[in-house]
Amino acid sequence: MKIGTSCVYKKKPSRYLKLLLGFGVVLFLLILLELDFIEEFCCFPNWAIAVTPNWLDPEQDPNVRLGKDSPSSAKALENYLIPNEKACQGHQVFLLTFVVSKPNSFKRREVIRKTWASMREVGGCPLVILFALGQANSSEVQQEIGQESARHRDLVQGNFHDSYQNLTLKTLMILHWKDAFCAEAKFLLKVDHDVFLNFHSLTEHLASLGEDRSGLYLGRIHWHVAPIRDPTSKYYISEFAYPLEVFPNYCSGTAYVLSQDVARRIYLASFQTPFFVLEDVYVGMCAKKIGVSPTHTSMMSGGPRFYFNRCCYKAIFASHGFETSELEAVWHVVADGQDCSALARKLGLMVCKLLTRLF
Ligand SMILES: *[C@@H]1O[C@H](CO)[C@@H](O)[C@H](O)[C@H]1NC(C)=O
Ligand SMILES: *[C@@H]1O[C@H](CO)[C@@H](O)[C@H](O)[C@H]1NC(C)=O
Repeated sequence: MKIGTSCVYKKKPSRYLKLLLGFGVVLFLLILLELDFIEEFCCFPNWAIAVTPNWLDPEQDPNVRLGKDSPSSAKALENYLIPNEKACQGHQVFLLTFVVSKPNSFKRREVIRKTWASMREVGGCPLVILFALGQANSSEVQQEIGQESARHRDLVQGNFHDSYQNLTLKTLMILHWKDAFCAEAKFLLKVDHDVFLNFHSLTEHLASLGEDRSGLYLGRIHWHVAPIRDPTSKYYISEFAYPLEVFPNYCSGTAYVLSQDVARRIYLASFQTPFFVLEDVYVGMCAKKIGVSPTHTSMMSGGPRFYFNRCCYKAIFASHGFETSELEAVWHVVADGQDCSALARKLGLMVCKLLTRLF
């Protein structure tokens, strides 16, 4: 037998509870809207003050000269199968981009050229976009690369074997190339060829830094990452190769930007930093050596990819993990010529980041 279910006393929520609830909802919405702000300024503080050891400051070291006369470039051409050394000439380059690609990824380069890398300037800021390759392992592929280079003039190929273990060599090649042949470029972007890149928003952001553009090492920070000690992993790092518990904080190798001064100083620091197989960690090591701390941006996805949303993709800088076929579809939506309002972008960002985290 049920006892008097009808006369259970239901307490009405008090006015204070309602008020508290309302306040909670407003706070929740505010936090959602300001997720980026919170991510950039709370989780990844950049309070460490950069200290520049004198020996790496080109202004202060008379033996280190910028540009074509730099000691490294005398024999520079010997290191390249395709040097493409005139690619920056006559452009007053603002942003030099190197897309890290593989010798036989012909189709992918073709698609990238037609999509996000089809831009030559943003708001009057000249862009130069090149592909970085190592040596192909077959003469047919190498021959095809020669033809591709003659047609598009956007390849730079080093004389090292193109392999995963040699990715750091490719980054060193990029840094050397910038130093020797494009020293005037204000920024250097290194980006992987499976990334969707938005030059509009990235260039706008870099231009908005105005004259205060030195000391920049911008990307998605990998924070307190420990080396993988499992010998069966692709990413295995022995204690001999790296004895410490954690890596210095570094920007994800999928996409990162260096300002002119940092690119040069990291290049110089690499002469005093032992080779390390993880390219992005290596750049982090060199940056630490010259006292530059990475700056976090919530507009680059790092490893995962941002959940697709039109207004979100008009706002972000880089999103990783795209198949060749997907790049075209995304580009057509993003480059449709219709702008998103500031609020629509914010909401788009909120939606795509929440979905990225949830799925
Ligand atoms: C050549 O390189 C490609 C990837 O670029 C790889 O799939 C292939 O196995 C390599 N061939 C040889 C003989 O090493
Ligand atoms: C890296 O490149 C060098 C120079 O071409 C080559 O001798 C070496 O075998 C390469 N390493 C790997 C693991 O591919």
